[in-house]
Amino acid sequence: MGPGAIPADAGRGGDSVTPEERRAALEAIAAEVRVCRRCRLAEGRTNAVPGEGHPETEVLFVGEGPGETEDRQGRPFVGRAGQFLMRLLATLGWRREEVYITNVVKCRPPGNRDPQPDEIEACDPYLRRQLEILQPALVVTLGRFSMARFRPGARISQVHGTHVPADPATGAGDALVYSLYHPAAALRSLEVERQSLDDAAGIPAALLGSRARRDAAPATPEEPSLGAAAPTTPTMPSLFQAEA
Ligand code: URA
Ligand code: SF4
Repeated sequence: MGPGAIPADAGRGGDSVTPEERRAALEAIAAEVRVCRRCRLAEGRTNAVPGEGHPETEVLFVGEGPGETEDRQGRPFVGRAGQFLMRLLATLGWRREEVYITNVVKCRPPGNRDPQPDEIEACDPYLRRQLEILQPALVVTLGRFSMARFRPGARISQVHGTHVPADPATGAGDALVYSLYHPAAALRSLEVERQSLDDAAGIPAALLGSRARRDAAPATPEEPSLGAAAPTTPTMPSLFQAEA
């Protein structure tokens, strides 16, 4: 890395979870989600969509809920909204394999209706566990339901393109929470599309800000529960290059 390169330090000081343990823990959640019947959304789904991505990533994208294509394939953001999200990632030089992508509800609401409060609540433990395992530096919320999960009371029209420190009560630890419009909204409006590209451009700087914050106040490991292996320092080469 040349001058201006970013140090490969994701701020996981004291991290006692190995990559293998993290991968297995995420897969255990996914296995539970696939057979979950905790809410009525189980009735209409073809496939639950637990989420997917790099287990050592620093960045977690959280959408609303699976659409038709996602329901059919069991994977998040693989339809038209997904294509736009991938376009946003590409403008940063990022690929979907390098981040983690999930949703507030893991099963498709019938006809793509809004997820209901009791459904969001029923599904929340899965998101909470994903956060706990990933300990992301940055949570990127996509759309207003995801925003509301991490920034209650905020208005998307006011907070898109901005970030705040996570409230630890949300389970996001010492992450920063960055908010975008929902990618599907960009498909319906050129203005939202333009704004989304603009907003996404601020993501790498927020990631750097989060790393700096974590370095200044390293998280104290709460429980060395997942094993006492050597600390891991996740490195995401293209994320570092994004700002170089
Ligand atoms: N919209 C979402 O909110 N999530 C998906 O996974 C796909 C479309
Ligand atoms: Fe379970 Fe969540 Fe699917 Fe409801 S939406 S059935 S809580 S996985």
